[in-house]
Amino acid sequence: MTTRTAGPIISPSILSADFAALGEEVRAVSESGADWIHLDVMDGHFVPNITFGPDVVKALRPHSAKIFDVHLMIAPADPYLAAFAEAGADAISVHVEAGPHIHRSLQTIRSLGKRAGVALNPGTPATAIESLIDMVDLVLVMTVNPGFGGQSFIPSTLETIARIKAMTAGRDIDIEVDGGITPETVGLAAAAGANAFVAGSAVFKGGPAGYAERIAAIRAGAGGTVAC
Ligand code: DX5
Ligand code: ZN
Repeated sequence: MTTRTAGPIISPSILSADFAALGEEVRAVSESGADWIHLDVMDGHFVPNITFGPDVVKALRPHSAKIFDVHLMIAPADPYLAAFAEAGADAISVHVEAGPHIHRSLQTIRSLGKRAGVALNPGTPATAIESLIDMVDLVLVMTVNPGFGGQSFIPSTLETIARIKAMTAGRDIDIEVDGGITPETVGLAAAAGANAFVAGSAVFKGGPAGYAERIAAIRAGAGGTVAC
């Protein structure tokens, strides 16, 4: 059984970081109040963009002791789960839309000793994951269509978040939102039931001098207190 962190969890997505300096970027957000580090893995097939694979996760691991929150936007995912686990992922999320054997994928992630997450796209109803609740430590609700940073939050996802919150009541499951999260939108997601918040452009825009302030603003927007 994993234990949930009290208060909002802020998980900066390095998709919006400087890819020429990823180690320094991960170190900088880790020292600026990030709770988790969100790593977006894209294959140019499940989503129309390509990022990085397990070797990059492994290279970044020494730069932070924070939870590595790996979001797999790849199909198939199963052949790569062990590689991401060995690379240093702490949580691995796979999309319910990415293949016919999501149950097997989640079993595999848990058997690797990692937190198992199921992700769902904005067009996927909450009921798609209802039978998987016993299998997961994390539900990742996409609040934009996956593939790119800097998109606008899709309000209809609030209903999905609320339904998943009801579905997971009384269980030790994090509800994470991903896409278009800013100090302005984060409160809506929090009110609907999310407790973990991915933010890419809202953290990384403007460079490292502002990371602490921007993470604090997202935390405050989510209803959390800001450490001084
Ligand atoms: C989108 C990714 C997100 C992305 C969010 O497919 O899963 O994690 O980095 O970026 P922002 O916060 O800019 O919407
Ligand atoms: Zn993501």
